[in-house]
Amino acid sequence: MHWHGGMLLQLSYTSRATRPMTPEELVTLAAEAARKNRVRGITGVMLCDAGAFIQILEGEAADVEALFARIQRDPRHAQITLLQRTQVKQRSFPHWPMGLLELSAKDRNLPGVRQLLESRDVGPPAPEGTPPPSPPSRQR
Ligand SMILES: Cc1cc2nc3c(=O)[nH]c(=O)nc-3n(C[C@H](O)[C@H](O)[C@H](O)COP(=O)(O)O)c2cc1C
Repeated sequence: MHWHGGMLLQLSYTSRATRPMTPEELVTLAAEAARKNRVRGITGVMLCDAGAFIQILEGEAADVEALFARIQRDPRHAQITLLQRTQVKQRSFPHWPMGLLELSAKDRNLPGVRQLLESRDVGPPAPEGTPPPSPPSRQR
């Protein structure tokens, strides 16, 4: 692993699954991500809720940028919106090659989380003035 040397970058984004994913597919995606991240010295966490993803990636800048470029080309999700890209002194998830968090109904109603999931960055596309769209899990 190459955890030392370069500048540490922490990057987060939101996206939406292009089709509903089963819990098994999600677990496989996260396990595969963790396996690859371990080799590259990337850590972070991935949150998934009804087709919405929020992911935080951290590692050496070049590695994180290269991974984010690959992730952006992944057809399994779309509407990728960068939330934050910051140089950090230390990792927030040093022991987590890619943790997968799934929200419970209770989590979903936490003030900050709810706001984020309902924001236009994560929610389904809704041109101004249109009625609320169908549930996210049905979006394609
Ligand atoms: C929401 C989401 C998060 C992902 N996170 C990671 C990740 O943390 N690490 C990773 O290697 N691949 C991740 N992937 C998969 C990548 O998009 C891509 O399939 C993978 O990097 C290909 O790796 P390879 O070029 O080494 O085969 C993610 C995909 C999605 C849809």
